[in-house]
Amino acid sequence: MAAITLQGVTKRYGNVTAVQALDLAIHEGEFMVLLGPSGCGKTTTLNMIAGLEEISDGTLLFDAKDVTRLPPHQREVAMVFQSYALYPNKTVAENIAFPLKLRRVPKAEIERAVAEVAEQLELTPLLGRRPNQLSGGQRQRVALGRAIVRKPSVFLMDEPLSNLDATLRLSMRSLIKRLHHKLRATFVYVTHDQAEALTLADRIAVMQGGVVQQLDTPEGIYERPANTFVASFLGSPQINLLRQGLLRPEWVAAGRDVIIGLRPEDVARPAEGLVTLSGRVELVSPLGSETQLEVALGSASVTLRVPKDWRVSEGETLAFGVDPARLHVFDAATERRIAP
Ligand SMILES: Nc1ncnc2c1ncn2[C@@H]1O[C@H](COP(=O)(O)OP(=O)(O)OP(=O)(O)O)[C@@H](O)[C@H]1O
Ligand SMILES: [Mg+2]
Repeated sequence: MAAITLQGVTKRYGNVTAVQALDLAIHEGEFMVLLGPSGCGKTTTLNMIAGLEEISDGTLLFDAKDVTRLPPHQREVAMVFQSYALYPNKTVAENIAFPLKLRRVPKAEIERAVAEVAEQLELTPLLGRRPNQLSGGQRQRVALGRAIVRKPSVFLMDEPLSNLDATLRLSMRSLIKRLHHKLRATFVYVTHDQAEALTLADRIAVMQGGVVQQLDTPEGIYERPANTFVASFLGSPQINLLRQGLLRPEWVAAGRDVIIGLRPEDVARPAEGLVTLSGRVELVSPLGSETQLEVALGSASVTLRVPKDWRVSEGETLAFGVDPARLHVFDAATERRIAP
């Protein structure tokens, strides 16, 4: 088992700073997700932990050991990439066995390990096939099998599910989650998919521009976003950010210029204790269990998600209630959250 600590870790490519003075303490056995838009430094961070990219500045520790300059093969980490890079001429069994073979593990022991991994990943009937005889999801499971077979204490995964179709992605997601519960190893998982991050992570580090914007549990990130970037990055449909004074909790100091965040789902029928707003319904999009609405509010338009039994029609004026305690308040200049 290993805890991973990054202290002021920086990566520069010439005059591009890909990762800027990153401080991150990943606990032993934790499932840490690095989440952020394209180019924010996720892969670079993961590659520095793996030893595949040199660290320009700062210190990397595995437990108390300084591994900043340690070559990759001495780090005891397993990597799973977006492309599975299986050996096309080897069978599934040989692909999974490969890391053990490299380490000259005795044959009987390899066979036992491969059988165990195949069982866990439901690959047993496929052990004799070659990669070109497998579906995308099966190949990705073989790649996972190859990573777990030598029981590393650290797993590094870079968008491992992004090549799979939506259904397969969901089943692989729960497989990875179950694998983490079972192995109790430290996982560092890179994705730009917020749903993947929210369902898998013990904690999420939301990155932008090579900097961690917020480090918290999925609930913490969603319920108390540190700034408007994090607030907008998580949540589908996106949070409404209102710059006009339509919705202003009483505790916000008079004269302070703020941005108010309203999550689309945080609305109800008008009731006591709620602030009532009303606006013209511009668009109704049924989503099955819920309905998504675009409602004109002053000069802005807000997106709302309401239960399907509200039976709203386009063009009508809808009155809805908002609990002021559920609003998010950000400073208009810094865009940082102002704590209630
Ligand atoms: N070898 C390189 N030389 C120069 N710049 C690089 C190099 N590799 C990455 N970068 C830059 O560093 C920044 C971070 O890249 P990185 O690959 O870590 O992003 P990412 O968050 O993984 O993005 P994505 O979601 O698109 O994979 C980007 O601005 C990228 O252009
Ligand atoms: Mg990447």
